[in-house]
Amino acid sequence: MHVSHEGKVAFVTGAGSGIGRAIACQLSADGARVAVADINSSAAEETVRLIGQSGGLSFALIGDVRSRTEMEKAVEDTCQYFGALDLLVNNAGVVTMTDLDDLTDEEWDFVVDVNLKGPFLVSQIASRRMPAGSAIVNLATVEAEVVVSSSGHCQVHYNASKGGVKMLTKALAVELAEKGIRVNAIAPGPVNTGFSGGDIETPEALAFLFQRLLVPRVGRPEDMAQAVSFLLSDQASFINGIMLPVDGGWLTR
Ligand SMILES: NC(=O)c1ccc[n+]([C@@H]2O[C@H](COP(=O)([O-])OP(=O)(O)OC[C@H]3O[C@@H](n4cnc5c(N)ncnc54)[C@H](O)[C@@H]3O)[C@@H](O)[C@H]2O)c1
Repeated sequence: MHVSHEGKVAFVTGAGSGIGRAIACQLSADGARVAVADINSSAAEETVRLIGQSGGLSFALIGDVRSRTEMEKAVEDTCQYFGALDLLVNNAGVVTMTDLDDLTDEEWDFVVDVNLKGPFLVSQIASRRMPAGSAIVNLATVEAEVVVSSSGHCQVHYNASKGGVKMLTKALAVELAEKGIRVNAIAPGPVNTGFSGGDIETPEALAFLFQRLLVPRVGRPEDMAQAVSFLLSDQASFINGIMLPVDGGWLTR
């Protein structure tokens, strides 16, 4: 199966590192022009450099997904620069490892705002500019379904935010169906990006992960990127409102 995004324009949040960077590179390799959005400018510029090195077209946009003003400008700049917006990936996300007892209001708001309000804001703003046939993919996690990951660290704020992303995906799919815009999510299993602040490939961490993983390795950013590219493509035109686990079987047992 050949996925092609030839002639399409993609907007990827958190595209300056990890999974977001892999998604931006994959969509470019599959033919899209890519708006590389991130709060970290040097990280976004590096993704643009990598895409350029492979012959792709992209540009960096600096902004915080929690800011309506900044996201309105970023989407406007994308439409000005590339003349369209067809594919949106709500990838930017954060986590902090804090037990319930120690969790402050500020930490709750930070994680829930980036992970859940961000995808709401960007989807609302971008979908006003997206034509019929467009598609959105949100980054959820296996932790939208179960409270087991991150080597046993508690993270009620993260679980709540990503459970919200699962339902946001369904609600957006229903509401945007009349505009011909599909909305899906992926639920990554463990991917070693430095996201949670620690190395998840230490012997202790791997022993914990291998109790559940059916595929005996952690995920790669490219595993996520290929699934996202497929869900955004016309080959997935009959798939809408789902959360696809890309998790090495983590949710199976
Ligand atoms: N790595 C994993 O194991 C894993 C597992 C499940 C789900 N996920 C999800 O995948 C997504 C990407 O994670 P990752 O592992 O690549 O993390 P990462 O930390 O490597 O990358 C996150 C990117 O988002 C950017 N970002 C953070 N806050 C932002 C904001 N407010 N506005 C704009 N950009 C912002 C960061 O600068 C960074 O470039 C997240 O939504 C995360 O919850 C990751």
